[in-house]
Amino acid sequence: MAILEVNDIHKRFGAAEVLKGISFSLEKGSSLAIIGSSGSGKTTLLRCLNFLEKPDRGRITVQDEVLFDAGDPGTQAEPEIRKKRLNFGLVFQAFHLFPQYTVLKNITLARELLEKERQKTQGTSAPQKEIDADAAALLAQMGLVGKEKAYPHQLSGGQQQRVAIARALALKPKILCFDEPTSALDPELTGEVLQVVRSLANKKTTMVIVTHEMAFARDVADHILFMDEGLIVEEGPPEQVFGNPREERTRQFLARYSSEP
Ligand SMILES: Nc1ncnc2c1ncn2[C@@H]1O[C@H](COP(=O)(O)OP(=O)(O)O)[C@@H](O)[C@H]1O
Ligand SMILES: [Mg+2]
Repeated sequence: MAILEVNDIHKRFGAAEVLKGISFSLEKGSSLAIIGSSGSGKTTLLRCLNFLEKPDRGRITVQDEVLFDAGDPGTQAEPEIRKKRLNFGLVFQAFHLFPQYTVLKNITLARELLEKERQKTQGTSAPQKEIDADAAALLAQMGLVGKEKAYPHQLSGGQQQRVAIARALALKPKILCFDEPTSALDPELTGEVLQVVRSLANKKTTMVIVTHEMAFARDVADHILFMDEGLIVEEGPPEQVFGNPREERTRQFLARYSSEP
């Protein structure tokens, strides 16, 4: 059963239609890689999924709940959107950690706020002990044991990105989204972040990964979407999209990529 269904998403900025009708679905426990040239609309699509942009048209459904329907204002109320956002975790290109907080606080802060709100609205919440234990488990999973008290500026880019992944996971999203998680890293730090994403895939974390790491996408993703100019030009299993692309535009993109350093 699909955990995520995206139907006919359109998004326009002024005169430019950046997403021109994007539809796909994602199975629980699988990972989807989105590839495509710069400017093809990948980030905008992730931002729409995370309610950071409002699509002009289309529908987003998670586990049979319609989270967003452009034609139904009832799905767009602000307090509701904050709750719906929790379905998704987002890891950005440039980490965006809170510089004034320790690694541990970066991971627990949002969860603490969420639990406070739960206490207020539902009369029940996870105790601090549980929040701390979950954070400790995430630190271990991300290979960051011993870094809890460090501040972001004391970490390498790869470590910072691993904190950002832990932070996203701390809210237990159903779907974890990555926007080119290694593109701001020096090449020698790329591997450690990809390794963490790979381990999440092995644990059947449901993920949408925008990446320009073609070998990684081919190796780790269950399904590939190739986007160009706001449309899905081709999709399929990695062996097909990379090994035997059907579309001329896909072939050109892959050829350009493999000839770049
Ligand atoms: N907030 C915005 N306002 C205007 N144009 C935007 C905005 N965000 C993105 N765009 C434009 O939308 C297009 C797609 O951008 P983006 O989604 O970032 O593509 P990608 O992530 O594939 O590089 C680009 O032409 C970009 O300039
Ligand atoms: Mg982008």
